[in-house]
Amino acid sequence: MRKSGLKKNSSSRISDEEISLVFKRALTQLNVINENDTALIFHDISYLIERINEIKSLFPKNAIHAIAIKANPLLKVLRQIEKLDVGFEAASLPELYFAEKSGVSPDKIIFDSPAKTVNEIAYALNLGCHINADSLYELDRIAKIIGEEKPKSTIGIRINPQVGTGNIALTSVAGEYSKFGVALKENRAALKAKFEQYEWLTGVHLHIGSQGCSIEMLVKGVEKVLDFTYEVNESLKNNNAGRQINIFDLGGGLPVSYHRDEEAVLMSDYVKTLKHQFKELFTVDFKLITEFGRTIHANTGWVASKVEYVKREPDINTAMIHVGADLFLRKCYRPDDWHHEIIVLDSHGNIKTGIDKNKYMIAGPLCFAGDVIATEIILPPVEQGDYIIIQDTGAYTLSMWSRYNSRQIPKVIGYFNEGKTFEILRERESLDTLLAFWS
Ligand code: LLP
Repeated sequence: MRKSGLKKNSSSRISDEEISLVFKRALTQLNVINENDTALIFHDISYLIERINEIKSLFPKNAIHAIAIKANPLLKVLRQIEKLDVGFEAASLPELYFAEKSGVSPDKIIFDSPAKTVNEIAYALNLGCHINADSLYELDRIAKIIGEEKPKSTIGIRINPQVGTGNIALTSVAGEYSKFGVALKENRAALKAKFEQYEWLTGVHLHIGSQGCSIEMLVKGVEKVLDFTYEVNESLKNNNAGRQINIFDLGGGLPVSYHRDEEAVLMSDYVKTLKHQFKELFTVDFKLITEFGRTIHANTGWVASKVEYVKREPDINTAMIHVGADLFLRKCYRPDDWHHEIIVLDSHGNIKTGIDKNKYMIAGPLCFAGDVIATEIILPPVEQGDYIIIQDTGAYTLSMWSRYNSRQIPKVIGYFNEGKTFEILRERESLDTLLAFWS
């Protein structure tokens, strides 16, 4: 069974046995899987709830845990999350709209879009959600829209603490240069001046990267932004401004384990380090915001695809399946940066064992050579009609779906208690909705 993310020394991944059990239950209990469902996306909702409750238990009660919608925007998943009394991080106007539709109250929504239009800012101010400006220019734009009124929204600014790039360049955002936020070194004085100028500016925000950044890097970023916060607060106090920076948004970015034997980076270790180094952050002086996405969702999802054909060559076999670069965009285009464990189930859901003498390519159905989600891997003998299971797919997979070749988005199934109950989170895309996309 799954080693719980709450336990130390665990990988936090759902075990092969549990996946097999749930898949068997889905095959037998669910009359919703039909022959067109050549691929299925699964989400363990019980585990998702467990992970969110864990975060809530580690941080102060008044912290807002704004789960990053971009990691998994399925509305039924957002509604499950909303019930746990946490919030959402929205990176675009549509994500802001989804957050509203989830039923969450506006004071738990964090609007982080990197390029907010005048209308989008007006919309967010009217809603009353927290807004993080991405630049000094955006801050001035917000000021113009607010005018002399006291906004319902609280407002912060995203700071780039310039702590370096993690292992994955494309998802690292705190190098010397980044397209996000305000670089601290070059703009320290200008930033400080904005806090003195705008009395509604009471928050700071940072985000270091997604996957590939160690706890040490994340903590270093917090340290730099917190030092700056003290500097500003000291000067606001000396000027009798009657306000302080009291909202500290830590962003997301805790990495997760995608490899079978890799130990998970534990949320409890991250929080322990933060508490140890920055006690003040955990006092009433600050309202903390977190924006985790991957660490909440990634290990709670997996994908099953039927093997349509196995092409056998003297040295290599290729299993042709029904998801590829459409669902696994990053894996196909940046194969060295990303990894998913793969297991094989037979047509009844039993785990296949043994080792085929040939290695396998796992290839998707799209028309280009890079549509391969695993290269030369060792597997048990795979046959037509088996299922390839791709693990740890709960974050940034369906949310990055690519329309190339116009494949239908597979059915998405949520489950509770190891498959004792199931809920369809999204029906398989119909040909007509697909046609509507291109019409
Ligand atoms: N907050 C902000 C401002 C972010 O930009 C992000 C992610 C998060 C929070 C959530 O980070 P997490 O806890 O999920 O690491 N697979 C995608 C990842 C992009 C993530 C972007 N930002 C990709 O390859 O583009």
